[in-house]
Amino acid sequence: MGGRTGPGTSVPPGGLPVKVTVDPSKCQGHARCFALCPEIFDVDDYGQSSVRSADDVPVELEERVRLAVSNCPEFAIAIVE
Ligand code: F3S
Repeated sequence: MGGRTGPGTSVPPGGLPVKVTVDPSKCQGHARCFALCPEIFDVDDYGQSSVRSADDVPVELEERVRLAVSNCPEFAIAIVE
């Protein structure tokens, strides 16, 4: 493997800048995203999640953001690479 990347291989955290989005029409307020990465996600009084900043996800938080994506039962979170 040797850390090489190419077509069909996943890019390791920190490989490319990524942004994250929450689809408000899918979010049902499970708040797992907030529990996993409160630096990136915010949840309002109604349980609706949002992304705190439109900036790229800091490399050091990327792994936890990916964890939030895979733990959202509504598939409301998406990573844009
Ligand atoms: Fe909503 Fe999913 Fe977070 S349902 S509150 S985006 S875990």
